[in-house]
Amino acid sequence: MKKFSQRHLLGIKELNADDINLVFETADNFKSIINRPIKKVPSLRDVTIANIFFENSTRTRISFELAQKRLSADIVNFSASSSSVSKGETLIDTVNNILAMKVDMVVMRHPAPGACVFLSKHIKANIINAGDGTHEHPTQALLDAFSIREKLGTVKGKKVVIVGDITHSRVALSNIFCLQKLGAEVMVCGPSTLIPKHIESLGVKVETNLMKALAWCDVANMLRIQLERQDLKYFPSLREYSMLYGLDKERLDSLNKEIVIMHPGPINRGVEITSDVADSKHSIILDQVENGVAVRMAVMFLLAGQQGSL
Ligand code: CP
Repeated sequence: MKKFSQRHLLGIKELNADDINLVFETADNFKSIINRPIKKVPSLRDVTIANIFFENSTRTRISFELAQKRLSADIVNFSASSSSVSKGETLIDTVNNILAMKVDMVVMRHPAPGACVFLSKHIKANIINAGDGTHEHPTQALLDAFSIREKLGTVKGKKVVIVGDITHSRVALSNIFCLQKLGAEVMVCGPSTLIPKHIESLGVKVETNLMKALAWCDVANMLRIQLERQDLKYFPSLREYSMLYGLDKERLDSLNKEIVIMHPGPINRGVEITSDVADSKHSIILDQVENGVAVRMAVMFLLAGQQGSL
């Protein structure tokens, strides 16, 4: 039987192509199960999972919780805003107190890059990174690549452009690692102020002209402008950004080919993408959300199989 190579899911960087394909094959099975009238399986019965979110989330949090319920896990939910973190408790003390209640797996979102790696060095439970600052968002990249594979049959050889705020995006970095490990070609596109210097060293193409990028690609993944992570002004105005880098129907129609449109959410409608494009037949945005549940079920199922492997 194939085994996942990692005890934790801290980032895509640590995975190999076999790990990613194993997640996809496992997610294929779970996707067919959750579309049946009886959606629940006993795979994680007696496994207790804590969802620890130090940052806001809609999709990731609900998706993990639903995936855990479908797998029959016992779950506890923790939000920093309603916890004793506001009284000064440290991350390690917070998590150790939760673990003292016999938790087997922790799903954590945190604003600090590296917070999940730090945690994995201090506690015994399996850790899943649900987004750590500007670093990685591995389950988002897995569900994105799974959705491309579902739509186009394969990821290998496909040309994927990631458009927008690359500098502040954990989704971009995890997608670059994941798509490259699966044999896709990756381009990043955006204003030069939002593209990290030396990003070519990761093996990606760089383009500052959106129409050239769209003409090149099979898939365009439109990222949200992360104003909450920008301490400087990286472009004059949202209006100018949307004029130069926003995807609208006119731009899409001017391509002499069909491309697949993706977005990790939450969408700033009218900024990086217009509503008619987000809701068009080219868009697989809601497929991404649907696939997130099956992919996260697969990740937790595979990690639970690694328990005791220290
Ligand atoms: N894609 C994503 O991470 O969305 P949330 O912030 O709503 O979880």
